[in-house]
Parts: sequence; C-alpha cells; structure tokens
Amino acid sequence: MFHIPVLLTETIGMLSPQKGDRILDCTFGGGGHTKALLEAADCYVYGLDCDPDSTKRAESIKGKYPDRFDFTLCKFSQASEILKERDKFDAVLFDFGMSSFQVDDASRGFSFSKEGRLDMRMSLEGLSAYDAANSFSEEDIAAIIHSYGNESISRAKKIASAIAEARKLKAIETTTELREIVRKAVGFSAVHKKYSKIDAATKTFQAFRIFVNDELTEIDSALTKLSRILNDNAKIATISFHALEDGIVKNWARARKDCISPINKSVIKASKEEILENPRSRSAILRGFVYNKKEEDYSFKDGGKAAS
Ligand SMILES: C[S@@+](CC[C@H](N)C(=O)[O-])C[C@H]1O[C@@H](n2cnc3c(N)ncnc32)[C@H](O)[C@@H]1O
Repeated sequence: MFHIPVLLTETIGMLSPQKGDRILDCTFGGGGHTKALLEAADCYVYGLDCDPDSTKRAESIKGKYPDRFDFTLCKFSQASEILKERDKFDAVLFDFGMSSFQVDDASRGFSFSKEGRLDMRMSLEGLSAYDAANSFSEEDIAAIIHSYGNESISRAKKIASAIAEARKLKAIETTTELREIVRKAVGFSAVHKKYSKIDAATKTFQAFRIFVNDELTEIDSALTKLSRILNDNAKIATISFHALEDGIVKNWARARKDCISPINKSVIKASKEEILENPRSRSAILRGFVYNKKEEDYSFKDGGKAAS
C-alpha cells in the first residue's frame, strides 16, 4: 500500500519552505507532503492526523529527522488548543479527505470496490457508517446522501428507500452490500467524467464518509481557529476534493478579505499527466493564501494556559 501525494510540486512551490520555517501539516497521512517539505529546506514540520494508523509512518519520519519533525495524533480542529503559545507557524497545509492507505485497506470500510465491514471512521472512534446505514431513519439517510453526496433529492430518496428495504431482511454489514443496494436503486451505469468513470455508488459512499467523520465541521472549525497559531505573513495551502470542502475554504477567505490574500489568481488543478498517473488527483483543487495579522498579537491572551 502506498499513497501518491497530490499536486506535490505545486504545493511545495506555494509554501516555499525556507531555512528555519515552522510548518504545520494538518493532514499528515502517509507523510508524502511532509517528507517533501523536509527535503526542500532545513525547516521544521509538525504533523497532525486523527488516524492511529498514521502514527507508525510518523515514527519512521521522526527516525530520519529527529530534530525537525514532530507528530500528534489528533483532529485538526484541535490544533490550536493542543499547540502551545510558542508553536506559531509560517506555513500550514491541509490535504483534505482520505489517504490511499485508508481506501486500500479493506478493513477500514471506505471503498466500495473492496469487501470490508462498513466503517469509514478515520479516527476509529464514534459512530460508524454501519451505525448510520442500519439505524438512521430513511429520511435522515436521504438527507445525508443529498447534502454530503451531492445527489439530487430524488436519487437520494431512492437510495435511502432501498437501504431501508434491504435492512428489513438483514443488517447491511459490508461495503459491497451497500454498493449493490445503491447500484440496484439508481442503475448500474457509471457516470463518465474526463479521464475516468464514476461509479453509481461513489456519491453515497462520499456522503456517509463525510457524515461519519464530521468532515465539513472539522474544516470550518480548524480554519476559524487558525489565526491563533499563525505568524504574520504565514502561508496556507488547502487541497480540496469536492465543492463542499472548497466552498468552506472560499467562504473562510472571503469573510476575512482584510487579512487573507490569495497567492494565485486562480485555483491550481492536476495536469493530465498527473491524473493519468494518480486518478485521485482528478478532482483536486489547490488554493493558497497569505495571512496578514491586522491586530498586534492577540493569540493566547491566557498565556497559553488553555494549551497546556
Ligand atoms: C489526503 S490524506 C493526506 C495525505 C498526505 N498529504 C500525504 O501526502 O501522505 C488526508 C489525511 O487527513 C487525515 N484527516 C482527515 N480529516 C482529519 C481531521 N479532521 N483531523 C486530522 N486528520 C484528518 C486523514 O486521516 C488522512 O490521513
């Protein structure tokens, strides 16, 4: 199993690490972006991830860069509480969504092309996709699929009704069971997009994953609290994979026009070559910003006590 970091050259170019910079990688994953940052300059990187499986990959990077890398297992919405007053950053990276390690591990239950128990919890804690599919009302499931999967309301209702029917006979235990229910409900035909095909079950799986991991609230909360841990002129790079993620990033920046300026005029997307090599990159949208603090330092007026 391995993970190819998306838009790697473009992201490192955007954050342009310099000697002595302190960089926060909020979505460490397999450490692909972290490694490239550490190799690009004599900088320091602090990695965060909520998936316990990422810890062993972080330990391997710590072994190679003992003084220039640290890692904490936590949700990125908790970053500003966990990091102490001294831990201000010159650059921050968010590479949203899931890693190939998570998708490729059938036991994590993220992928409809691999038989595994329906789970989808990145942190391995809390409500799973199994719980949602088997115990939520038909109306709530339709709302989840519509809101987070971007399915039309009529397709979302058809899928939710098929889920409700199927679970009367037996609990929906596995990823492939859910996939077949969705395919039967809305037709097997895959949607054809540039360079790839999108399976009929893709949006339902995305919806359950976003719901189970509370992904949109996580992004909004992390961005809202970010300024507390930024140095003046800090750079922020975000890689989104769908309009719901990207919309939160855009709103966050738009609401702070006085202190946040975009680095590029337009968003950066993967080249045709990158998409062919790594199909996951086909929907990636890279945005970069510079944060200029307008007030004198207002971070941690409690002297950092909240973080200790
Ligand atoms: C797309 S992968 C990042 C891959 C990484 N950039 C690399 O090159 O290896 C996203 C990672 O973010 C983590 N993640 C997603 N939501 C999170 C959250 N709210 N808090 C912390 N980590 C999160 C996932 O567990 C996953 O490992």
